[in-house]
Amino acid sequence: TRTIDLAVIAGDGIGPEVTSEAVKVLDAVLADEAQLAVTEYPFSAAHYLETGVILGDDDLAALAQHDAILLGAVGGDPRDPRLAGGIIERGLLLKLRFAFDHYVNLRPTVLYPTVPSPLANPGEVDFVVVREGTEGPYVGNGGSIRVGTPHEVANEVSVNTAFGIERVVRYAFDLAEKRGKKVTLVHKTNVLTNAGKLWSRLVEAEAANHPDVAWDYLHVDAATIFLVTDPARFDVIVTDNLFGDILTDLAGAISGGIGLAASGNINPDGAFPSMFEPVHGSAPDIAGQQKADPTAAILSTALLLDHLELPDAARRVEAAVAADLAERGAAPRTTAEIGTAIAARLGAQ
Ligand code: NAD
Ligand code: IPM
Ligand code: MN
Repeated sequence: TRTIDLAVIAGDGIGPEVTSEAVKVLDAVLADEAQLAVTEYPFSAAHYLETGVILGDDDLAALAQHDAILLGAVGGDPRDPRLAGGIIERGLLLKLRFAFDHYVNLRPTVLYPTVPSPLANPGEVDFVVVREGTEGPYVGNGGSIRVGTPHEVANEVSVNTAFGIERVVRYAFDLAEKRGKKVTLVHKTNVLTNAGKLWSRLVEAEAANHPDVAWDYLHVDAATIFLVTDPARFDVIVTDNLFGDILTDLAGAISGGIGLAASGNINPDGAFPSMFEPVHGSAPDIAGQQKADPTAAILSTALLLDHLELPDAARRVEAAVAADLAERGAAPRTTAEIGTAIAARLGAQ
């Protein structure tokens, strides 16, 4: 049988709690179809505070050997001065996304039937945000001068390359082609005119290659209106790194909560392992209490299985989650109880 060589970075806070359940479900769904070989890596804020190491080049080389990476969440106590300035977020999470060229940050949003939404009339919510993953204001292009003076200047320059936009836009249109509907470019072309022109032009060019895919455009501020008033209008949203970050927390909120929102950091070329993780963070407010919903991490394994070309297993995970969601009552369950229940639907004890 095939072996899936999986790296697991459980991380901080609720990361280890939700990741355990995701691995439990992966074990259950794969059963005899494939052998799951898990290698755990300790990278996290906690590991950094203990060892002084965030993620070295040798660590990247080790991770690069795996078929895929499953990540829980990273980020420590925000009040800890040793973690100031997003040192873990940049040195670990973004470093992985950049080093492994995860240019597609894939964030599907599905409102499962029976799952309550805060929207009175959400309609059918089933869209995918294709968030650019390696550019925009995230690259760290900028800096501060005259720090601490009244004349301090702080710059984060958004980097948008034709190469980087073209490839993520192509992915979005190919995806819409499979889903058969449409692409919405979300940007702020009325203010960010340089990047806006480039994104618009490259979307138009790609659209010409896909005459059967409809496309439209929304400014990001207006997109937040429609995500709340009419989310059913969306199919594939393609957008830059920062807009995509913000829109996908909102997408999580309208589709049953951030505890259900899954994501994949994809390197479609297959040159590097792709990385799958819930959209949420380490949730220090509920960490260590078995209160976290592991569903987002579990649904991220469905994206992982799809990426590894095991679509039947991916659909079985989604079906087990859907069945679990349909039977959720008012009684609270622990993180492990939810994971065990979903795994049990897949045949595990
Ligand atoms: P967060 O997503 O950790 O938490 C936001 C809110 O959602 C909190 O109230 C939390 O309790 C709740 N929540 C999150 N996941 C949940 C789950 N599975 N079940 C139930 N409730 C859940 O965002 P934050 O508070 O802004 O960030 C906390 C830390 O995590 C920060 O250090 C941040 O940088 C980091 N972070 C990491 C990632 C990642 O590793 N991919 C993503 C986002 C934030
Ligand atoms: C996410 C997170 C990250 C991001 C942070 C922690 C760097 O919010 O995965 O959505 O902004 O991409
Ligand atoms: Mn985010």
